[in-house]
Amino acid sequence: MSRVLIPFPDLQPLAVELGARLQARVAPVGWRRFPDGESLVTLDAQLEGADVVLVAGLRHADSVALALRLVAETARELGARSVGLVAPYLPYMRQDTRFHPGEAISAPIFARFLEQSVDWLVTVDPHLHRNPRLDGLFSIPTRHVAAAPAMAAWVQANVPDAILIGPDSESAQWVGDIADRAQVPFQVLAKIREGDRAVQVSLPDPIAARGRTPVVVDDIVSSGHTMIETLKHLSALGLPAATCLVTHAVFSEDAYERLLAAGAQRVVSTDTIAHPACNAIAMAPLLAVACEALLAERTPSLAAL
Ligand code: R5P
Repeated sequence: MSRVLIPFPDLQPLAVELGARLQARVAPVGWRRFPDGESLVTLDAQLEGADVVLVAGLRHADSVALALRLVAETARELGARSVGLVAPYLPYMRQDTRFHPGEAISAPIFARFLEQSVDWLVTVDPHLHRNPRLDGLFSIPTRHVAAAPAMAAWVQANVPDAILIGPDSESAQWVGDIADRAQVPFQVLAKIREGDRAVQVSLPDPIAARGRTPVVVDDIVSSGHTMIETLKHLSALGLPAATCLVTHAVFSEDAYERLLAAGAQRVVSTDTIAHPACNAIAMAPLLAVACEALLAERTPSLAAL
């Protein structure tokens, strides 16, 4: 059995650890842009008969997705037996309905784009809301890795007196799971989104938070407004400076700096999106388990041969 892991440039530490755990050869992809902006990708590795695992950071999906397609199809032409994708952050999931007339419903369209190139997909906590399950979006085999065990371990080790705060009903699924595992209390607030950069968040219950250190938990921080509104409430209630704990550090524009300016004591994330200051929770161990399961499904047992 030969495994080759091909990492895209921006998730190197995660990819190297994942490659070691999967006992895969790590083969970089050559990727350069012509003067007109078109991509040229080059695969130097011997891929004949190999199970290929692509590892791609899709935080900037619009600039990576086409190169990903080029690499996947080239790997197949060069003889790969299978091509899977580890996309720790799965983009476009929040546009899961037509919020305004004529809008694209991007989530299923992007899912179809990916499954046209790869045989299987592993991701971390996709934003499943109106689409409750990943296999309702994809027809290829998928595994959804939960970051909650790793995030709960971080909370237990670093903020044992925490109260977790989820800023909206969508966060309840993650906050409740992390709180149960870390054995700390939690609250879920209500959010009204008025626009891309305008949200209102309900007031936390100060009695329940008394004597505890607030940790605001969300799956995605994009503009940062959801977390910032929550931080403002916590600070107005006189609670200790909060930690922001996020799975996917999307951080549009200067969101990270604005979280700190809004009073966050620190901002901590998993490494599904590379960020030099806040990646503190490694996902490679859990991703490796999911990849092993999918690779095993593709390997015929000796008895069947
Ligand atoms: C949406 O429900 C997500 O869980 C996040 O709360 C949201 O994406 C955060 O967006 P922003 O940082 O732009 O407020």
